[in-house]
Amino acid sequence: MSAFTHIPVLVEETVEALAVQPGGRYIDCTLGAGGHAAAILEHSSPGGQLLGIDATPEAIKVAEAKLQAYSGSTLLINENFVNLQTICIKYDFQPVHGILFDLGLSSLQLDSNTRGFSFQHDAPLDMRLSPSQEITAADIINTSSEAELARIIKTYGEEAYGRQIAHRIVQERPIATTLQLVRVIERAVGGRRARIHPATKTFQALRITVNHELEYLEAALKQAINLLGFEGRLVVISYNSLEDRIVKQLMHRESKDCICPPGTPICICGHTACLRLINKQVITPSPVEVQLNPRSRSAKLRAAERIITQDEPYKVAEKLNFLVGGKASGWRRPALLKKLRIAFSLP
Ligand SMILES: C[S@@+](CC[C@H](N)C(=O)[O-])C[C@H]1O[C@@H](n2cnc3c(N)ncnc32)[C@H](O)[C@@H]1O
Repeated sequence: MSAFTHIPVLVEETVEALAVQPGGRYIDCTLGAGGHAAAILEHSSPGGQLLGIDATPEAIKVAEAKLQAYSGSTLLINENFVNLQTICIKYDFQPVHGILFDLGLSSLQLDSNTRGFSFQHDAPLDMRLSPSQEITAADIINTSSEAELARIIKTYGEEAYGRQIAHRIVQERPIATTLQLVRVIERAVGGRRARIHPATKTFQALRITVNHELEYLEAALKQAINLLGFEGRLVVISYNSLEDRIVKQLMHRESKDCICPPGTPICICGHTACLRLINKQVITPSPVEVQLNPRSRSAKLRAAERIITQDEPYKVAEKLNFLVGGKASGWRRPALLKKLRIAFSLP
């Protein structure tokens, strides 16, 4: 584990997109080796607090060691981020100034020769983020019907040869290890040449399925929006088009006041924007960063800010609190008061 290194991606861009400020409260939903967390803690010092979450127990150990200097300001939890809201309620950690998701896997997982995430190391077909999960990649490979396997590989791998690969898997199973699966895939796609290794997309599809990655991401993003305080920032770094589509669609939808179908003569949806997009264009690593860290090449960063909406009870509570001269429970008080004045047309 000591030899393990993970180079965090888009670190400066992340700190800027989160608008990290001294004394702020942040959540890193994908703690990994703690690279982003360390940068957030450094910029939020003095007084910053960080709740770090990771589904993989080893990640928590590695991050704990890395963030030792900040042990008084950090709370590191081995959990799945699909339970984000429950975790925040349990530890009374809300509202927060910023929430980060740096999706996918860390080098700890990719370089491991026991976890089965990589087609470059021979290992049992596991792919679970946490040993507490029941279903492994081997279970899916060896028990799913051919049609189901083809659907998984096509949908979550966006693999054009999904049907051929599924057919070959069913013919040749049981399959127990990563390299056995790689050989089966190579035989299924024959001598076709591609820019990427022929097993890349099938491995992605299995990992997404084993860990419910897309469903959990969507659920966690919705919870994250509700945990942000006024002007709080949501920052997401994704590494494949399926993840990025979920992030983009949710952020765009939540930054619109009306989501009626195009052509609807008058608004009937009653939807109110609760986010403001920070960058209209997605942020990607510079060529220098990609050269230094090739694993960053597919990264896409999107960021949005929680904006005030008048129909939410807690904001009304903030206004009442302000009117009776109480202390705003929020933070960044001057900015909060200014926005409240504008939002509620106060003098
Ligand atoms: C790309 S790494 C994060 C690296 C980290 N930002 C750093 O600087 O070291 C992604 C991490 O998210 C974790 N992860 C992925 N999905 C998760 C989920 N649903 N719940 C909790 N952790 C998850 C993985 O275990 C992995 O450690």
